[in-house]
Amino acid sequence: MNNAIRIILDEHRSISAVLSGLKSLAQMAKDARLRPDFKVFRAMIYYIDAFPERMHHPKEDEHLFARLLLRDPASKPLIDDLQGEHRKGAKLVRDLEQTLLEFEQTWPKGIEGFAAAIDAYARFHWQHMSREEVDLLPRAQKALTAEDWEAIATAFAGNQDPIADLREKDFTALFQRIVALAPAPIGLGDRWQKTA
Ligand SMILES: [Fe+2]
Ligand SMILES: [Fe+2]
Repeated sequence: MNNAIRIILDEHRSISAVLSGLKSLAQMAKDARLRPDFKVFRAMIYYIDAFPERMHHPKEDEHLFARLLLRDPASKPLIDDLQGEHRKGAKLVRDLEQTLLEFEQTWPKGIEGFAAAIDAYARFHWQHMSREEVDLLPRAQKALTAEDWEAIATAFAGNQDPIADLREKDFTALFQRIVALAPAPIGLGDRWQKTA
């Protein structure tokens, strides 16, 4: 496995970890006696907006997909579909933000809409990543050159520009903050308190 693929799969695993955590926390929040810590939901949704949506998908579009299209033009329908999914993801994140706001304003109501938005985003994103891993990456492995992979790895590692590199480090810090905030057993944070 080359370095670029390793980075992409690692990013998929980090995104999956946050999605699993988010789904588990939404289940926990269905118990209306527990007051949720909304900070952890805000941090997770910020992560999803900032990392997969604004960083990971655009890098796939600009580097991996663009190079695959050049080397293997027959992959265009697959790339078109995956790019359509990137646009759909951006819309589903807006739904997540909107339903979290409603949940926070109307707690203990609003959990059903928020949990449904989380399920929709998680399901969508897991399917999307699996298509990339099962359909796109094997095609790319056949078609791309060593030089292509090097350029993709550089872009994904954020080495091309120092600001992107800084942002990559911020995501590690943000991920650690999510783990610290999420209540046990999902993360390392305090359990949510029962209201009277
Ligand atoms: Fe993607
Ligand atoms: Fe991806």
